Amino acid sequence: MNYIDKLKDLIGEQYVFTSEEVRNDYGSDHTEDFSFPPDVLVKPADTKEISAILKLANELKIPVTPIGALTGLSGGALSVFGGIGLSTERLNKILKIDTNNMQVTTEPAVVTQVLQEEVAKLGLYYAPDPASRGTCSIGGNLAENSGGPRAVKYGVTKDFVLNLEVVLPNGEIIWTGANTLKNSTGYNITQLLVGSEGTLGIITKAVLKLIPLPKHNLLMLVPFTSPFKACEAVASIFNAGVTPSALEFMERDAIDWTMAFVDNPPQINLKPEHKAHLLIEVDGNNLEVLYSDCEVIADVVANHEADDVLFADTEAQKEALWFLRRRVGEAVKANSVYKEEDTVVPRYELPKLLEGVKEIGKKYGFQSVCYGHAGDGNLHINIIKADMTDQAWNEELTKGIRELFELTVRLGGTISGEHGIGLVQKPYLDIAFSEVELNLMKSIKTVFDPNNILNPNKIFK
Ligand code: LAC
Ligand code: ZN
Repeated sequence: MNYIDKLKDLIGEQYVFTSEEVRNDYGSDHTEDFSFPPDVLVKPADTKEISAILKLANELKIPVTPIGALTGLSGGALSVFGGIGLSTERLNKILKIDTNNMQVTTEPAVVTQVLQEEVAKLGLYYAPDPASRGTCSIGGNLAENSGGPRAVKYGVTKDFVLNLEVVLPNGEIIWTGANTLKNSTGYNITQLLVGSEGTLGIITKAVLKLIPLPKHNLLMLVPFTSPFKACEAVASIFNAGVTPSALEFMERDAIDWTMAFVDNPPQINLKPEHKAHLLIEVDGNNLEVLYSDCEVIADVVANHEADDVLFADTEAQKEALWFLRRRVGEAVKANSVYKEEDTVVPRYELPKLLEGVKEIGKKYGFQSVCYGHAGDGNLHINIIKADMTDQAWNEELTKGIRELFELTVRLGGTISGEHGIGLVQKPYLDIAFSEVELNLMKSIKTVFDPNNILNPNKIFK
């Protein structure tokens, strides 16, 4: 019996797909224009079936690529060696919301926004909110340690994870920790799995921490005549004693392209001299405090040469501004062939990073559109192909990207803040880690996956 028939025996024929159409559908994520279809796509029902599939694949040494919602930006879910694509999409239930302990137990394919809305009905908050929260899922967020705008105040996915059920590459099923807010019992396998990009195990259940849902928020959009001044204002806001719940940066092109891309763009008074904007939110339970935070922020940005601040007066206006911000990535993608670099530096270094990006761009002849989570020092640098020759794009540019990442690391940062290394950033990992450090990570991979069947060829060369 060939392995595809064995898969059919294990999970039922109707959940094993070999048609070109399905394989292609599951062969692309949101990373550039890549296509790496699996040889066979499987949709197991539960942990037990995933365990059986991995046991078989491990015996036969067939690569398995875990596939979530395919919204990734580093190619982590692409089946680069063909093999088995394992979609977790049928594990899509919120299993339990424990209001007494403020925890939720969920399966991986639950869409992040759905989880947020379900717990919000009970007055609870799951804060990590990637821009794609309407389509990405918790499993992918865990695999990549996703962030999003609210990370600046509340932390990224890892900060909300208490315990994980994981199927190891040999099919064994484990729980990584305990459902507790504290845990100093042994090595922290939970946090090792978070951000491991589906290379160490497949997460089949997650126990996540929740917090009380803040009652109010205020949102303002601040235009600057210089993008560097906008970046300088970022650290000053924190140093003035305010921690915003979001502090996003958008260069003018990012706003213009997105305004043109979305239906019903928000009403913004964009003047020709506005070169960048900060979108700043504060949240909490006491509106008076939030108004006073906004006054502090308004004073700080005025000291950094901001133009007139736009306060969102209504919920509809807030939604429109957030909608605009969340669609920037798609707008850039629709506009041009591009490469996205997910750089992150300590936030005070942000102006230096942006200056360096523009200088390196001049040297290598590329245009860039930058936006991102400025409060975290996390800058999404989108390098635009525009009229670059294929030669410049495919060969020269890698040197430019290398310089860019070297600068990031020199500034105390690293080469991915929230999108992961996956397939596309592998060639640059040596900039962030020494050989000793890389070998340590590779050894960990070998302990979990001695046959290298699970998501091979990701993170490491
Ligand atoms: C964003 C995604 C690209 O921040 O991370 O829009
Ligand atoms: Zn982002």
